[in-house]
Amino acid sequence: MKKHMNRMAILYGLLALPMVAIAQQKTVDQRVDSVLALMTLDEMIGQMNLFTSDWAVTGPTLRENYKADIQAGKVGAIFNAHTAEYNRELQRMAVEETRLGIPLIFGYDVIHGYKTITPVPLGEAASWDLEAIERAARIAAEEATAAGLHWTFAPMVDIARDPRWGRIMEGAGEDPYLGELIAAARVKGFQGDDIAAVNTLIACAKHFAAYGAAQAGRDYHTVDISERTLRELYLPPFKAALDAGVYTFMTSFNELDGVPATANAHLLREILREEWGFDGFVVTDYTSINEMVPHGYAADDQQAAMQAVNAGVDMDMQGATFYDHLKALVADGNVSEDRIREAVGDILRVKFQLGLFDDPYRYSNTDREQNNIMTERQLADAQDIARKSTVLLKNEGQVLPLAKDMGTLAVIGPLADSQDDLLGAWRGAGEADQAVSLLSGIKEKLGEGVRILYAKGAEIEGEDRSGFKAAELAAMEADAVVLAVGEGSWMSGEAASRGMIGLPGVQTDLVKAIVATGKPVVVVLMNGRPLAIPWIAENAPAILETWFAGTRGGPAIADVLFGDYNPSGKLPVTFPRHEAQIPIFYAAKNTGRPMDPNNKYTSKYLDIPNTPLYPFGYGLSYTTFAYSNLKVDQSEFRAGESLTVSVQLANTGKRTGKETVQLYIRDLVGSTTRPLRELKAFRQVALDAGESQTVSFELEPETFKFFDAKMEFRAEPGDFEIYVGGDSNAKEMVKVKLVER
Ligand code: NOJ
Repeated sequence: MKKHMNRMAILYGLLALPMVAIAQQKTVDQRVDSVLALMTLDEMIGQMNLFTSDWAVTGPTLRENYKADIQAGKVGAIFNAHTAEYNRELQRMAVEETRLGIPLIFGYDVIHGYKTITPVPLGEAASWDLEAIERAARIAAEEATAAGLHWTFAPMVDIARDPRWGRIMEGAGEDPYLGELIAAARVKGFQGDDIAAVNTLIACAKHFAAYGAAQAGRDYHTVDISERTLRELYLPPFKAALDAGVYTFMTSFNELDGVPATANAHLLREILREEWGFDGFVVTDYTSINEMVPHGYAADDQQAAMQAVNAGVDMDMQGATFYDHLKALVADGNVSEDRIREAVGDILRVKFQLGLFDDPYRYSNTDREQNNIMTERQLADAQDIARKSTVLLKNEGQVLPLAKDMGTLAVIGPLADSQDDLLGAWRGAGEADQAVSLLSGIKEKLGEGVRILYAKGAEIEGEDRSGFKAAELAAMEADAVVLAVGEGSWMSGEAASRGMIGLPGVQTDLVKAIVATGKPVVVVLMNGRPLAIPWIAENAPAILETWFAGTRGGPAIADVLFGDYNPSGKLPVTFPRHEAQIPIFYAAKNTGRPMDPNNKYTSKYLDIPNTPLYPFGYGLSYTTFAYSNLKVDQSEFRAGESLTVSVQLANTGKRTGKETVQLYIRDLVGSTTRPLRELKAFRQVALDAGESQTVSFELEPETFKFFDAKMEFRAEPGDFEIYVGGDSNAKEMVKVKLVER
């Protein structure tokens, strides 16, 4: 009876009145308070636990009795459970079998698609196309919400400058400015304009913070960076996600300056809540509270739980430390009940905002699930973003695009007919057999007209060269060769760092053997990180970087290979020549002894060059672009004034094409030293052959600001150089001076 009455109290307060009347009568905060007022301490603690269902897991622990926990009101959210029907049943347990009937939130790693898989995030970032990136996240949200989900553990907005780190694949690359824009686009795509709509997901900015700075690129490793680097490089995309309205943040596994991020009050309280005013909730990463014991920060799980919750963590992912210890911690006075109420209030607020109290089953509709997943439109969009993500790295002698009417084409390589690898890691509920391989994509495009010879040549890994002969014979018989090599999909993502980032196995030797046939060879790369491939860069006539291109990867790559799409992607991350150059990124500092080939005592190696294989921002097209007449409207400006920079861009080739015009600045002297170049603006411009256009940028005063010696964010008077061009080595330059008022 009591159970019934309390549920009725909530229902009366929240549901019994028409929606408009409720909206007028009670704000969300009042509704949250009315629920909090009914809750026991146990019930509040229950809301702070997130457990996995028995679907996929990414850590060692599987909580077997999660259903009993739901029925006992000990869980606030479940992850990895999906499909409308399955989640409806779990929701029913929470709503009908617990005293207060508080609905669950269902979370999942919907990173680059739910069923329709778009390119891995690093690949999407290579499009530099914010609208397309937002659309990709929108598709993911449409599908995931149709399958009973409310919450994605994305976007990962970690800046990464170490390609050995497997999770570089999940982010937007090395640059904070590009990272900010992409973070915002992804949040907008997932969350849409109305979070209460049934086709929008709440997003999660992760991993807070500086996870990408793991020492030596080894996953989960120590992070030790300055406050300045934290603020200049790693935090901006998180702030951008917050400004775009992100509802949740996830703590990272790493420590930062000796304090694990999961108990880091500087990050979680001072920066996130006090400085930035975040009012959603903070979830940990998978068992990251428990991991503070091996970190050497807590003696046991109970202490770890106390440290985490007091630092500002609201929800424990899978660790059960709140579940096991919060009550005792409150009883002993180590955690205040107010702190618990604050955390639960933040969680409940999001549940209200999602509309779950109005209708807990609104995301579990099997009709929607049947009709809103892998639709023609979603697949066409996925193909489009995959094409936009390809980066043409080399095209000697205009090998590309290939003719559709050649006699024989050899399609070779361990990735040529792989459906599975195309999906990359973190593929949600994506299924390999629904992906179209490159070989199938090419066949679809060419039909019967061209004879296609396929030979795998080698495996992705291992020493077996027995397939080389057949591959060489196929190449020799063909007019041209498409050679698909790269990494397996499992070689990037979580716990997938690689020390050596060349092609695995005997693939480089396979490329050598095929190039030796003298045929026009197009190397198609599939990978989740920058690769160090100096021999291929030097010797293969054409190279197309396609990342892991997703469900429609094969047709998308075929569109590019045969000229139905002119590639326009630009690298969002530097490709090194050799692992020993790592970390290598464009926004380096000058040092006191900048590299001079004629002076030994300058900053360089004895045995390898300083320059990368391919710089940040680089990517070719089937046409060519020329830059000229770079101008600025005033060469002297004052703090607070904007500048207009313009450049003439001409399509000097024979095809219509799209260029990403990039603008970088260098602040020559500062109270702290500044990078040689910093990306500050870019614009994508499509031009017909022979056409030119003036491209202008309005540079806001913010453009010139940085954290000065006192950690104040401001612009200092002095000289700046502004570079504009097609990559981070842009040559066109103008000087401007910021003068005192
Ligand atoms: C661990 C990963 O670090 C995180 O990114 C992911 O969201 C969780 N596991 C849940 O799968």
